[in-house]
Amino acid sequence: MNPSTKTIQPTGVLEGENSSLVWPQPSSLPRFSPPLRIGVMASGNGSNFEALVKAAQKSELDAHISTLVVNNPNCEARHRAKRLGIPCVVLDHRDFDNREELDQALVRTFSKFDVEGVVMAGWMRIVTTILIEAFPRRLLNIHPSLLPSFRGLDAVGQALKAGVQVSGCSVHLVEPQVDAGQLLVQAAVPVLSSDTHQSLSKRIQCQEHRLLPLAIAIAGESWRNV
Ligand code: GRF
Repeated sequence: MNPSTKTIQPTGVLEGENSSLVWPQPSSLPRFSPPLRIGVMASGNGSNFEALVKAAQKSELDAHISTLVVNNPNCEARHRAKRLGIPCVVLDHRDFDNREELDQALVRTFSKFDVEGVVMAGWMRIVTTILIEAFPRRLLNIHPSLLPSFRGLDAVGQALKAGVQVSGCSVHLVEPQVDAGQLLVQAAVPVLSSDTHQSLSKRIQCQEHRLLPLAIAIAGESWRNV
C-alpha cells in the first residue's frame, strides 16, 4: 500500500500525505484562569513561536505569550515578534563570558515578565542547570524526531540516513542531558520513499506547530494542579 494513502487507526488522525499520529490527543484543550503566562526562546526562523502566538490569539491555547528571547539579533524570529506585537529581548550569547552567565540573564528576563513556563522553540544553545532549576518541570523543548531516537543536531538528516519509515517530533521537559527529559507529547510522521530533507522537515514542522500548544496545555495543567 502506498504510505501516503494509508489511514492510521485507531486513534485517528488524518489521511494523505500530511497524515500523522499525535499522542496523547485530548479532545479539547483545558482553560486556565488566569491564562498561562509563557516565555519563548528561539535562535532562528521562529515558526514555532509564531504558531504559539497564533494559537493563543485564536484562544486554542489559553495562554499569553509574554515575551520572546533571541540570541541572534538578526534572526527571523525577532522580526516575527515585531510583526506580532510580542516584546522581544535580545540576549546575544557572544556578549556573555560563558553559558552560565547567559542563563542567568535568561532567568532575570523571564522573571521580569513573570512567566510560569518557558519553551525552547528552536533555541540552538545548550542550557545549564541555572535555567533548568529556575523552572523545574516548567522548561519545555521541541525536537524534530521521535525521541529518544535521533537526539542532537540534524535529527531529520539522521532519520533519513537511518532509513526509518516513521519519524516525527517530540516535546519534552528539559534536563541537563541534551534532548532528554520526560516526554509530554509526540507526533509521528511517515517517511515517504520520495522524501528529501526539505520535504520531510516541512511535514514534521507542520506537526510541530500543532504539537507545541498541546504540550503547553498538558504541562500547564500540571503546573496549576501542583
Ligand atoms: C524545530 O524543528 C525544532 O524542533 C528545533 O528547531 C526547529 C525550530 O524551527 N528544535 P522554527 O525556528 O520554530 O521555525
